[in-house]
Amino acid sequence: MKRWFKYVKPHILYFILGPLCMIVEVVGEVLMPRFFGSVINSVNENMGVETVVGICAMMVVTALLMMAGGVGGAYFGAKASVNFASDLRGDVYKKIQSFSFANVDKFETGSLVTRLTNDITQLQNFVNMLLRMFLRSPGMLIGALIMAIILSPSLSIIFAVMIPVVAIGIFAVVRIGFPRFSKMQKKIDALNTNVQENLTNVRVIKSFVREDYQKEKFFTANRELKNSAISALQVMIFMHPMVMLFMNVTTVLVLWVGGNQVVAGGMAIGDLTAFITYVTQILMSLMMVVMIFMTSSRALASAKRISEVLDEVPDINDYSAANKDKQIEKGKIEFKNVAFRYYKNSTDAVLDNISFTIEAGETVGIIGSTGCGKTTLVSLIPRFYDTDEGSVYVDGIDVRDYSLKNLREGIGMVLQKNVLFSGTIYDNIRWGNDEADVDEIEEFCDYAQADTFVKGFSEGYQTELEQGGLNLSGGQKQRLCIARALVKKPKILILDDSTSAVDTATESKIKDAFSNKLSGMTKIIIAQRISSVCDADKIVVLDEGKVVGIGTHAELMEKSEEYREIYYSQNEKKEANN
Ligand SMILES: Nc1ncnc2c1ncn2[C@@H]1O[C@H](COP(=O)(O)OP(=O)(O)OP(=O)(O)O)[C@@H](O)[C@H]1O
Ligand SMILES: [Mg+2]
Repeated sequence: MKRWFKYVKPHILYFILGPLCMIVEVVGEVLMPRFFGSVINSVNENMGVETVVGICAMMVVTALLMMAGGVGGAYFGAKASVNFASDLRGDVYKKIQSFSFANVDKFETGSLVTRLTNDITQLQNFVNMLLRMFLRSPGMLIGALIMAIILSPSLSIIFAVMIPVVAIGIFAVVRIGFPRFSKMQKKIDALNTNVQENLTNVRVIKSFVREDYQKEKFFTANRELKNSAISALQVMIFMHPMVMLFMNVTTVLVLWVGGNQVVAGGMAIGDLTAFITYVTQILMSLMMVVMIFMTSSRALASAKRISEVLDEVPDINDYSAANKDKQIEKGKIEFKNVAFRYYKNSTDAVLDNISFTIEAGETVGIIGSTGCGKTTLVSLIPRFYDTDEGSVYVDGIDVRDYSLKNLREGIGMVLQKNVLFSGTIYDNIRWGNDEADVDEIEEFCDYAQADTFVKGFSEGYQTELEQGGLNLSGGQKQRLCIARALVKKPKILILDDSTSAVDTATESKIKDAFSNKLSGMTKIIIAQRISSVCDADKIVVLDEGKVVGIGTHAELMEKSEEYREIYYSQNEKKEANN
């Protein structure tokens, strides 16, 4: 409860004014039938014209007050619920931003999107309804009941039977409805994940001509959502006619019993008319209570799903970092007896007993067959994942002792699967460091061999990139990603297979710029081609998560069989190509 109150507190005024206005409306609604009955009775009772006019005037005033109350209630209810949802959405978003890769994997992106949108909207509707109906329906129920009892205690006995019957109905609805709505929410998740995957990968799908297959998958998810929605809504569909039936039966009973009383002279006809209006009000508000329960059961399911996100502890955090103010100064990196696995209960380690040192300013190549753990190894430096055993040190300090911000700010990383954002090229590069000026951006683009081709575009740096950089070639995209990492002016630069789509001549120009202009930067270059790393100060050869060789190209050619194997496989290929 405390969690949700946090979002009520800043808008408490709306949360109070909304229901207050609703009370005004309810009081009016309950009084109206009474006035109405009095006017009808006036015909029989020969009241003076003034009295009738007086009652009518009161009805007009009450109607105006009701309108003011209704408008105010709707206005403040909307203000309160929209603000509530907006603040909550902001917090959930912030929380998701703090998630580690592993946290995100656990929820799936599609589900996070549903939670952030649909579930929060569900809660917003609930809060709105709560403010408008929560006081109103029970208020009307009780008010109308009191008025009915005052009018005719004997007729009111009917309610003693009808209300418990309908109450049992409510209980049944909540019991049946809640699990069905939770299930429906899960189906929405599945559909969102499906849509997201299909839209992001539309090019792959088309190139494999798998539209029909993907369509079938989508239709299955859609059908399942439809079925679960129908099954959930059926409970509601059934409810309305049931309450209407009870209402009509009660009305007939009241007419029968009350009509006899009127004939016998025990009840005024206006009172009977008013009483019947109260029957409608009582049963209608009972139905509204059912609706509130229905929406609550949905909202409860959503609240639970939002709580799960808010309660998730980012498994990579810097709460207990010992050197929060420390920044990376030199860029020396040390792996000491590092072991890592993605699935903590699996026996096969992805990285096993890794120990080596990279001095500040060195250029180090990492080479090894696909899936041997290169990306995983470098992911441990900016703490995308934490080691299971051993530690990674930067400048002699355990990476876990830096604040995440300082650690990651000191590291420029070009991920293997990198993306650019929509916007101009200039904006994309500046995204790496928003303090960089035009000259710096051009300079770093020049180092990454991007300046020339960017200037070749008719709009140069102002060229708009489509989503993810779709309107660029693979190699152009890679070079812009390198430039974006460089403008950060990091102490450590990690390139994960970032020149794989760049031709060798351009690649060697990038390497020249790195060694001439960026000599102070520690550089780790993961590559498939030996030619990309052969002039590095040091090359680390990985095989199945273990370091099997370390040294310069010449040293490795001499002592590492694995290295020689890779070298000959690539050079034979070259010879064959020639
Ligand atoms: N997010 C992940 N969750 C679970 N397992 C993973 C994850 N990422 C990688 N792996 C597994 O860890 C192992 C090492 O993967 P990694 O990406 O580090 O290889 P790599 O050497 O970078 O390969 P490549 O040259 O193809 O990029 C692989 O067996 C892979 O299946
Ligand atoms: Mg990789």
